[in-house]
Amino acid sequence: MFSTLFSTFTQNTSNSRVDLTSGNWQAMPMVQVEPAQQEDVEYIHRISKDVFDIYGDYGKILPRFFTSQGVTTYVARVADNVVGFVMLGFLPWAKGVTEGSPWIADLLAIAVVSGHQRHGVGTALMQQAFDLVAQMSEWRDVKEIQLTCAESNTIGLSFFARHGFKISNPHHGNYSEGQVALRLTRDFVSGSDGD
Ligand SMILES: CC(C)(COP(=O)(O)OP(=O)(O)OC[C@H]1O[C@@H](n2cnc3c(N)ncnc32)[C@H](O)[C@@H]1OP(=O)(O)O)[C@@H](O)C(=O)NCCC(=O)NCCS
Repeated sequence: MFSTLFSTFTQNTSNSRVDLTSGNWQAMPMVQVEPAQQEDVEYIHRISKDVFDIYGDYGKILPRFFTSQGVTTYVARVADNVVGFVMLGFLPWAKGVTEGSPWIADLLAIAVVSGHQRHGVGTALMQQAFDLVAQMSEWRDVKEIQLTCAESNTIGLSFFARHGFKISNPHHGNYSEGQVALRLTRDFVSGSDGD
């Protein structure tokens, strides 16, 4: 996660409501994924600090991305509490963009608060990100979705593998706290994605 963004694509406004329960709906709360609002930035700060500060000062960096042009952020709410978020932007595939040039979707961050992990919230957020990419692909040629993940983040790597991402560069760099960063990508073929 946490790549640099150059884009003019702006906010999608669709909502989705996802039942996480897999047959156990009375025991599990519903998660609602929706576009983040300005007042959600404090939660984005707190969640980022909770889960990303081992990699660097992302408690500060990610709230700044939230206000960057071209970044779209969705939050996941359970019983009105923000329990996770996903941030996505779009980059030109190569320099010298022309009409019809391909684009890359850049998944900047996805996070779920510790107490709500492994209940499908991350999957609901990822689904929303895929939906946004599908919308973007209606007017741009989006080739793939990319992200970075620490080599040591075995849970993150399992999660991304489950959603079709593969390691495309095992030496993408290092986080500021030293962890090796891997580049992961997932082909995007319009009309066939959105698990
Ligand atoms: C990665 C993350 C967003 C996943 O969100 P989540 O809501 O827990 O994920 P879901 O419940 O939707 O998905 C479950 C899948 O993720 C992986 N996963 C999630 N938690 C796991 C755990 N504790 N142990 C192993 N795998 C785990 C598994 O592949 C799992 O599928 P399975 O349950 O069928 O085995 C969440 O763990 C998180 O916020 N981690 C900290 C931040 C982070 O690392 N973000 C990615 C940055 S690169």
